[in-house]
Amino acid sequence: VEAAKERLASGYSRAALQYDALAGHMYLAGIRRLLPRATVPLMPAILDVGCGTGVNLLEAARWFAPARLLCGIDLAPGMAAVARAKAAAAGVPAQITVGDAEQLPYADRTFDLVLCNSVLHWFKDRRQALCEMHRVLRPGGQLLLIGAVAPAFQEWFALVDGLMHASTGSKPLSQIPPLPTAAEVAGHLQAAGFVLEHFANPMHRQTIAEPEPFVRLMATVAPHWTADLSPEGQLALEGLAAQTMRLAWPGGFPNTLAAVEAVGRK
Ligand SMILES: C[S@@+](CC[C@H](N)C(=O)[O-])C[C@H]1O[C@@H](n2cnc3c(N)ncnc32)[C@H](O)[C@@H]1O
Repeated sequence: VEAAKERLASGYSRAALQYDALAGHMYLAGIRRLLPRATVPLMPAILDVGCGTGVNLLEAARWFAPARLLCGIDLAPGMAAVARAKAAAAGVPAQITVGDAEQLPYADRTFDLVLCNSVLHWFKDRRQALCEMHRVLRPGGQLLLIGAVAPAFQEWFALVDGLMHASTGSKPLSQIPPLPTAAEVAGHLQAAGFVLEHFANPMHRQTIAEPEPFVRLMATVAPHWTADLSPEGQLALEGLAAQTMRLAWPGGFPNTLAAVEAVGRK
């Protein structure tokens, strides 16, 4: 497990500098849909779990300014470094910690609001991670949760599995846990003690006409599949993925998007 987490952290650290330019708007759009559902006291204490480059934390800081406490935690030192630099540049006194969301280093009942955007699928024990988020919320506090769920990206995972196996002989990507279903996420939230105030499961299929930007985006938002490769090896594999998509799907590569957007109250 720890080796898998190190691999994940090094992949994200490598992707950190391109993350905002390529993907930041996507995550920002998600959290902006949920923030209006948050009811927080004046000067709230806010935690962003798997904060990445701080997209969600800085947006919440703007919405609820002034905050009493702003914390972010992320496994990847490179992502945390970008979040720290952005907070400093914006004059936001955020405390960004490198650490594991499955063992949050905060006291019980510390926060009024917890954010967790597109991180849940990485956790080894998702229910436990949600229990941790529940533990650090004060009674009446809220969790805003966004996460990819099955069958999201199934076509992409199958393609990368095949390419990795054929080109490097490495184990298929399925060493990463499969995405949860929306029903599993709802069950985990309730088992952790949350009352669901909102639960949506948007899903749609898109057709990717231009493989290169899509592959670059996937290498940035889910970089685990290239984490063991040299930078040259990564570029070669990305090129191969794009080329395969063009040749095998001349009408465009199908990509399924599916997520949950949930608000839970303690
Ligand atoms: C797709 S990014 C999302 C980042 C951010 N929440 C956003 O919306 O832009 C996933 C992030 O989860 C972090 N992550 C994955 N597993 C983690 C864990 N166990 N503890 C803390 N962070 C984790 C990764 O390092 C990465 O920064």
